[in-house]
Amino acid sequence: MSRILFATSEAYPLIKTGGLADVAGSLPRALLSLKQDIRLILPAYPEARERMGKYKTIASFELDGHALKLLQGRLPGARVTTWLLDCPTFFDRPGNPYLNQQGQVWPDNAERFALFSKAVSMLALDQLRLAWRPDLVHCNDWQTGLVPALLDQQARRPATLFTIHNLAYQGLFDYDTFVKLRLPQHLWHHRALEFHQQLSFIKGGLVFADSINTVSPSYAKEIQQPEFAYGLDGLLRHRRHVLSGILNGIDVDEWNPGTDPHLLQNYNRRSLAKKIINKTALQHEFKLPQAPEILLFGFIGRLVEQKGLDDILQTLPGILDTPVQFVFLGSGQHKYEQALNKLATQHPDKIAVKIGYSEELSHRIEAGADAFLMPSTFEPCGLNQLYSLRYGTLPVVRKVGGLNDTVKDIQKKNLDNDSATGIVFSGTPGDGLLEALQRTRKLYQDKVRWKQVQLAAMRQDFSWQRSAQAYLDLYHASIRRNPKPLTATAFSPS
Ligand code: ADP
Ligand code: GLC
Repeated sequence: MSRILFATSEAYPLIKTGGLADVAGSLPRALLSLKQDIRLILPAYPEARERMGKYKTIASFELDGHALKLLQGRLPGARVTTWLLDCPTFFDRPGNPYLNQQGQVWPDNAERFALFSKAVSMLALDQLRLAWRPDLVHCNDWQTGLVPALLDQQARRPATLFTIHNLAYQGLFDYDTFVKLRLPQHLWHHRALEFHQQLSFIKGGLVFADSINTVSPSYAKEIQQPEFAYGLDGLLRHRRHVLSGILNGIDVDEWNPGTDPHLLQNYNRRSLAKKIINKTALQHEFKLPQAPEILLFGFIGRLVEQKGLDDILQTLPGILDTPVQFVFLGSGQHKYEQALNKLATQHPDKIAVKIGYSEELSHRIEAGADAFLMPSTFEPCGLNQLYSLRYGTLPVVRKVGGLNDTVKDIQKKNLDNDSATGIVFSGTPGDGLLEALQRTRKLYQDKVRWKQVQLAAMRQDFSWQRSAQAYLDLYHASIRRNPKPLTATAFSPS
C-alpha cells in the first residue's frame, strides 16, 4: 500500500469547471478501491466547504503571513479522506476557482496557488505533524506546479508525479510576481521556473517531478512536437524517458444511462429504442421542433478556441439546408457566446443555445442527442466523447489527442468488423468538419448501421479500473526513481 497525496485545484462534486474535476473526483476513489492510502487536497472554496458537509479542523498554522486551517472531511459519496486548505483571503470568494464573477482571472492567482502549493509541500513533509507522510505527491496542472520544485529543494522528500491535463494553461507571471512569492532565487533559471523572462508554474512540474504524464497516449506524443507545445516541446523531449500517457477513465455510476436520475427515460443497450424519449424531451426543452427523425447534434463545453468553436461557426451554416438540429450548452469567451446566440436567432428551428453551466442539462444532452459534436483543435483526453459513447450518442471528433485514442471511425473496414464507434475526421481547422457532418447524416439514414455503431459505442469500457492500475504502476516507478527518498531515520520534520 502506498500513501498518496493527490493535489488539485478542483474535484467533483465539491467544485468543478472542467474535466480536471471529474478526474480528481473519480481517480482517487478508484485508487482507494485498489487499497491505496490516498488523501485529496484542494483549496477551501465556499462551495467545496458547503458540499463536503461534515468536517473538522485538524491543523491551524501560519504561512507567508496568512492564518491557515486544514479541514478534514470526505469526498461526498466516497470514502476518500479530503483536506480543504482554508485561507479566507484567497479562497473564500464568489466566482470560480480561477475567475471572478465577471469572468476575469483573479489578479492574485499566482499568490493564491503559490500559497496552496507551499502548504501542500509542508503536508508532504509532514511539517504539520499529522503523523502521515506520503510516499508520493500527485500534482495536477499548473496550479500545483510549484510543489515538485519546492519539494526538490529538500535533502529528502516524497516522490512526485506531475500530470498535464492541458499544456495550454501554464501559469505564466512576471518577474515581480516571482519576487513577491518569495521563492528560492536560484529557481529563476531557464532550467527551473523561468520561461522566456516569465515565471512559469507548470515548469515546476515539468522540470522537477520524478515522472510526468498526460491524459492520453496520443497527447503525450503530440506535446513533444512544436505545434502542440507552446515552446515547451524541447523540455518535454528532454524528459521523454519519464513522460507517458494514461487515458482518463470515467465515473461509470455517475454516467450511466441505465440509472441516470437526470433523464426522463433510462435506457441501456437492450432498451436502446427508449433513447428517443430523451431526444424529443430535449428538443422540447430547447424549443426546437419535436421531430424524432431529424438528426440532433449536441455540444457541451467551455466556449474556447480549443473546443473547435471557429470550425463550428464556419461550418454549420453549410449544413443547415438539410434536416439537422444542434443544441449547445456552454460558457466561456464572449465572442463565441455571441456568435452562437446569433446563429440560434437566425435559425430558431435548427439551432438552440444555452449559455451557462448545468450538470443536469449536460446529462440530458448526452442522452437526448443522436450525435455529439467535439471538433477540438487539440484535446489532451476529453471526457464528453467518453460519456457520449456510453450513452449511445455518436461522437464526431477531430483525430487529435484523446479523441484519437478513444473513438474509432465509421470507415467501411471498421463497420465490417464492428469496431466503429463514431465519426473521426482529420485535417487542419476549417477542413474536414463539413464532410464529417455529412458522413454522420449518411450513416443516420441507414438505421441498421446506426444502431450497430451505437451498440458498439455502448460496449466500450472506459471505467477507471485499467487506468487506475496504470497510475499505481506509475506511482511505484516514480517512488523507485526518487533520487532523495525519505527514510525513517533520515526524516526529520523541521
Ligand atoms: P475540458 O476539461 O477541457 O473542459 P473535458 O471533456 O475533459 O474538457 O471535460 C469537461 C467536463 O466539464 C465534462 O464533464 C463536461 O460535461 C463538463 N462541462 C463543460 N462545460 C459545461 C457546461 N456548460 N455545463 C455542464 N457541464 C459542462
Ligand atoms: C483538460 C483537458 C481535457 C481532459 C481534462 C481532464 O481540461 O482539456 O482534454 O479530459 O483536462 O484530464
